[in-house]
Amino acid sequence: MPDISGKKVLVTAGPTHEPIDPVRFIGNHSSGKMGIAIAEEAAKNGAEVTLICGPSRVESSVSVRRIDVQSAQQMFDAVMGLQAENDVLVLSAAVADYRPKQVASNKIKKKDAALVIELEPTPDILASLGAKKRPDQLLVGFALETDNELQNAQSKLNRKNCDIIVLNSLQDAGAGFGHDTNRVTILDRHNNISTFELKSKAEVAKDILQKIKDYK
Ligand code: CTP
Repeated sequence: MPDISGKKVLVTAGPTHEPIDPVRFIGNHSSGKMGIAIAEEAAKNGAEVTLICGPSRVESSVSVRRIDVQSAQQMFDAVMGLQAENDVLVLSAAVADYRPKQVASNKIKKKDAALVIELEPTPDILASLGAKKRPDQLLVGFALETDNELQNAQSKLNRKNCDIIVLNSLQDAGAGFGHDTNRVTILDRHNNISTFELKSKAEVAKDILQKIKDYK
């Protein structure tokens, strides 16, 4: 894809919040910074960008169409509704893998006994897109691994039928959740592996966009 100018790009970003009751949720530490930086960089490159964003305080510019969602299910519904019309789909959101099976309609009152919350899996957005992907579409996933990083990222790429996977390392000080910097390794379907230095998320976004443009 040598030029993404005029192409439609969908980006997911941020965490998801999975409700337990009207006042509580299960969430994670994702800030949304990485995904929003990718959305902004794609817009700068002339793409028509839709950002599907979980709860995040990070603002995005008017050049990006932003759809705010809360839960994995809402993110799934928003993304799948736009699946067919997008050329490039970049899934950088830290989607919760599990959600409470039952959401209490009233605030859960404290009792003396232990509280057990049963969890069920959320729909896997990346895998669902991979299953429906057309040959003209480019699917980019993210992986956060703590061990056997390359091997796990490679098998995730194959399992979820991605073209490119961006591997975040949790081993690096200054990289990942909440930080303004990140260090990534980018793998593709043709077994190309590119490693990058720790840099600002805006610079990482440029590297990811370059990989998308260079992908054949
Ligand atoms: N993802 C998604 N929908 C989910 C969970 C994850 O779209 N319900 C996407 C993320 O946006 C990211 C990639 O899948 O692009 C990350 O996958 P991850 O959650 O790390 O992989 P898992 O399938 O959970 O595998 P594992 O728990 O073995 O790491």
